[in-house]
Amino acid sequence: MSAAGNPVIELRDVRKAFGSNVVIERLDFDVGKGEIVALLGQTGSGKSTVLNIVMGTIPADAGSVRVAGSDPYRQFARLRGKLAVSFQTDRLLPWRTAVENAEIGLLVLGMPKAKARQVARTWLDRVKLTGAGDLYPHQLSGGMRQRVSLARALCVDPELVLLDESFSQLDHVTSQTLRADFASIAREFNKTCLFVTHRIDDAMEMADRVLVLRPGAGIALEEGIDASIRSSLQRRSALHDKIAAVMGAEA
Ligand SMILES: Nc1ncnc2c1ncn2[C@@H]1O[C@H](COP(=O)(O)OP(=O)(O)OP(=O)(O)O)[C@@H](O)[C@H]1O
Ligand SMILES: [Mg+2]
Repeated sequence: MSAAGNPVIELRDVRKAFGSNVVIERLDFDVGKGEIVALLGQTGSGKSTVLNIVMGTIPADAGSVRVAGSDPYRQFARLRGKLAVSFQTDRLLPWRTAVENAEIGLLVLGMPKAKARQVARTWLDRVKLTGAGDLYPHQLSGGMRQRVSLARALCVDPELVLLDESFSQLDHVTSQTLRADFASIAREFNKTCLFVTHRIDDAMEMADRVLVLRPGAGIALEEGIDASIRSSLQRRSALHDKIAAVMGAEA
């Protein structure tokens, strides 16, 4: 557990290259407890690479990376159960029902079956899938499958939730309601969340803070978003244009 005041994610002067392709350089940022932070950047700017470094699937070449007080790559086991990840595709197992998919993480962590089933059902209710628990993935819409995936991610009560453009394959209205529901659940349960997207609207809708990744030079722009910005069309569009200009400048 991270002590109050300690960031859940802390990156300092992080560098990552694949061969001669230097994808990340001089990257510094923190994500505090309960914060929802969006990482924006053009395609190929290294967003998924940052997420992979944070979840410990690949090491940084240089710099320091701390997640919930541990090095996610070298101390991978310490983050067991503390970190939940949801990807672009929902990755549900087709032979398991919605509730059987949702409870997977709990069973892996050793929770007794009956208790896991009960917790998974509670989370299916929270993501508005009451009554759909016994359906198989092929019987669900894309948006419903993403909701199962979210329930699966959240039901282990993770300290940190990482999302990689989880809602981008859905139609606009579906992804918009899903985003709003996710943000309200994350706030209600004080979840810390880093999510990656190249859609400025997604970022402004969900996040408390947006970071724009500049390839090779860290964070090019950092902006806080609050209700007063979200509710003012004028301020929203001004901020949108400002972010777009910074993202565009990296082309
Ligand atoms: N495992 C890898 N091996 C070699 N190169 C890689 C690897 N992973 C990523 N890259 C390269 O790193 C760069 C950044 O990739 P990354 O997937 O992080 O970008 P992204 O910002 O997530 O893009 P998108 O918006 O398209 O998802 C690209 O040039 C990519 O080719
Ligand atoms: Mg990506």
